[in-house]
Amino acid sequence: MPDALAEIDGLEVAFAGHDGALTPAVRGVSLTVRRGERLGIVGESGSGKSMTGRALLGLLPPEAKWSAQALRFEGQDLLAMRPKERRRLCGTCISMILQDPKYSLNPVMTVAQQMRETFARQGAKQSRREIRERIVAALEAVHIRDPERVADAYPHELSGGMGQRVMIAMMVSAGPRLLIADEPTSALDVLVSMQVLSVLDEMIERHGTARASFSSATICRS
Ligand SMILES: Nc1ncnc2c1ncn2[C@@H]1O[C@H](COP(=O)(O)OP(=O)(O)OP(=O)(O)O)[C@@H](O)[C@H]1O
Ligand SMILES: [Mg+2]
Repeated sequence: MPDALAEIDGLEVAFAGHDGALTPAVRGVSLTVRRGERLGIVGESGSGKSMTGRALLGLLPPEAKWSAQALRFEGQDLLAMRPKERRRLCGTCISMILQDPKYSLNPVMTVAQQMRETFARQGAKQSRREIRERIVAALEAVHIRDPERVADAYPHELSGGMGQRVMIAMMVSAGPRLLIADEPTSALDVLVSMQVLSVLDEMIERHGTARASFSSATICRS
């Protein structure tokens, strides 16, 4: 296994304006995240942090014009991969936590229904009771006080901090080797942000995940 987990070499992203002229959004970004490493990307709003993370996941907007010398995950060439293979890899090995859980959680499914899908993707055959126990344990691990109630709640019934904890529980339970945290706390107040970041740190320590975090306002803690 190569030491470099994720590599981006010479990523360029641009968008066409009304007159058709291309405006650069990312100019020649290269970075490497090693196994177990935490990398912080800091830049002002609009400087291309989210586009960089999304390029790694293959989730750039369809209208983006982009190119890269190389995009690799565990030495595998992401640029040469078929879309289906890439989706499988991104669904299991790389997870992304977004700024606002409202955009990441499915509004018409309960927390447990969404987490069940995550566990089901991991392949091992498990009974409904075993999955329920894993869901409750994952919610407890991110310090949700009433995990049974939260498991049966819909996203709109959660506070912002709770929603972000649920996202962390869900993303970390998927067992990713790389977790991309795109300003995971900027929609939260300072106190709740600190609590959510410490839960994230705890989960990463426990699971030995590498992490790339983005921050527009502050230098990342990690
Ligand atoms: N769909 C799009 N169409 C046109 N331009 C876009 C599109 N998406 C992003 N951009 C532009 O790409 C640039 C980089 O955007 P990106 O979202 O990566 O910034 P960011 O560093 O994550 O900013 P923030 O800290 O505000 O989240 C911005 O100037 C933005 O306006
Ligand atoms: Mg962003």
